[in-house]
Amino acid sequence: MSNVTVIGAQWGDEGKGKIIDWLSNRADMVVRFQGGNNAGHTIVVGDKTYKLSLLPSGVVQGKRSIIGNGVVVDPWSLLEEIAKVGAAGLSVTPDLLVLAENACLVLPLHRELDALREEASSQKIGTTKRGIGPTYEDKVGRRAIRAIDLKDPASLPGKIERLLAHHNVLRRGFGAAEVDAGALLKLLNEIAPKIAPFLGSSWRELDAARKAGKRILFEGAQAVLLDIDHGTYPFVTSSNTVAGQAAAGAGVSPRAIGTVLGIVKSYTTRVGEGPFPTELKDATGEKLGERGHEFGTVTGRKRRCGWFDAVLVRQTCVTGGVDGITLTKLDVLDGFDEIKICVAYELDGQTLDYLPADANLQARLTPVYETLEGWKDTTAGARSWAQLPANAIKYVKRVEELIGAPVALLSTSPDRDDTIMVQDPFVDR
Ligand code: GDP
Ligand code: IMO
Ligand code: MG
Repeated sequence: MSNVTVIGAQWGDEGKGKIIDWLSNRADMVVRFQGGNNAGHTIVVGDKTYKLSLLPSGVVQGKRSIIGNGVVVDPWSLLEEIAKVGAAGLSVTPDLLVLAENACLVLPLHRELDALREEASSQKIGTTKRGIGPTYEDKVGRRAIRAIDLKDPASLPGKIERLLAHHNVLRRGFGAAEVDAGALLKLLNEIAPKIAPFLGSSWRELDAARKAGKRILFEGAQAVLLDIDHGTYPFVTSSNTVAGQAAAGAGVSPRAIGTVLGIVKSYTTRVGEGPFPTELKDATGEKLGERGHEFGTVTGRKRRCGWFDAVLVRQTCVTGGVDGITLTKLDVLDGFDEIKICVAYELDGQTLDYLPADANLQARLTPVYETLEGWKDTTAGARSWAQLPANAIKYVKRVEELIGAPVALLSTSPDRDDTIMVQDPFVDR
């Protein structure tokens, strides 16, 4: 039996939360390894809906949950989320949740800088304005405040001074008020006792779990096309979202990440700016958005919609390190007369079978479509392969063939139980 790493294989919101929750039933531990509260993972269990941003989706099934060192953590937002799920009946105590002491903190100044940049820029990224990019910049710039610093009040003033030496210059440039060191220190000292009980060591937790033969589920946020290296740069997030990041962002061997499951929507969506070759700005795109309820979990923004792009997913399976996929939201395609799949791009008279790295070229691609016959019967709520209409099976098989990766799971509604297992991802191949 292997561990499993789940990542998004398109532009995010593929249904990772639903699948992690479903898989966590058979795991001992769930670990986030990158991103922050830019993520919005939805889990539907009967009449209850949980929207998680920082908390690993394992909390819903009461599984030990780790926020790894690769995550950037807004401590105020984390406490709010714990209170919110607490009100919904989930108790998240330090017995359940461990926050890596070497994770970097998202501070109010990061959120403000994120918003200032977006507002000032003529080429917006369309970020979630959660301060994710500015925090990762400070991490790499070696001036971030880390969770462990909250336990050492004597060292905080010096760390704040170093951080503000950088930020106040930027803020002056934007015409924003400078941050007062004393005020920030007060904020951090206030939150410190609330965060301290959750602090622990991600790598030691995982080492002990591995030695005890426990099964670990790694929960990716965002997706490969938003990866800082492999995504549609600069319209990306500021972390590596590929499977390899699970090792670095949690403190385990790359060999411990196990089977990599890419989550793939049966069509394509994107929220925020940037190239999107199969985007449909017509009634079909509207229909996909309506049927799929495509509004952002975090920001409520309308998601852009288009047909399935097999070129992109074939590529993200390679760059992301995907062994098999989960195809979600198949039910959203119910009732379409015909369904298109992008199988190649045309650019300046040439046919391409990959996404070029240059954003200007990405924006000029014309998709080449293959058209498949739709199905009239519903797939919504199907729980076995046998319940799927013949044309839906043809669609799934064609997707599999085009992307060069097997379909391990299928999802046919937001509900946990409406999931079809084709191949158990926990079983070593
Ligand atoms: P994540 O960020 O990858 O976890 O995905 P989000 O939660 O942001 O967005 C996925 C949305 O699709 C959520 O509202 C889910 O409840 C919903 N969803 C997940 N799987 C399915 C499915 O198979 N069918 C339908 N109709 N909705 C789904
Ligand atoms: P989950 O985990 C979809 C997008 C933003 C923006 C870009 C950069 O729910 O799939 P950021 O705030 O990260 O600097 O924004 O990335 N983005 C997401 N899109 N799903 C997400 O997470 C996303 N997290 C960030 O919309 O285009
Ligand atoms: Mg989401």
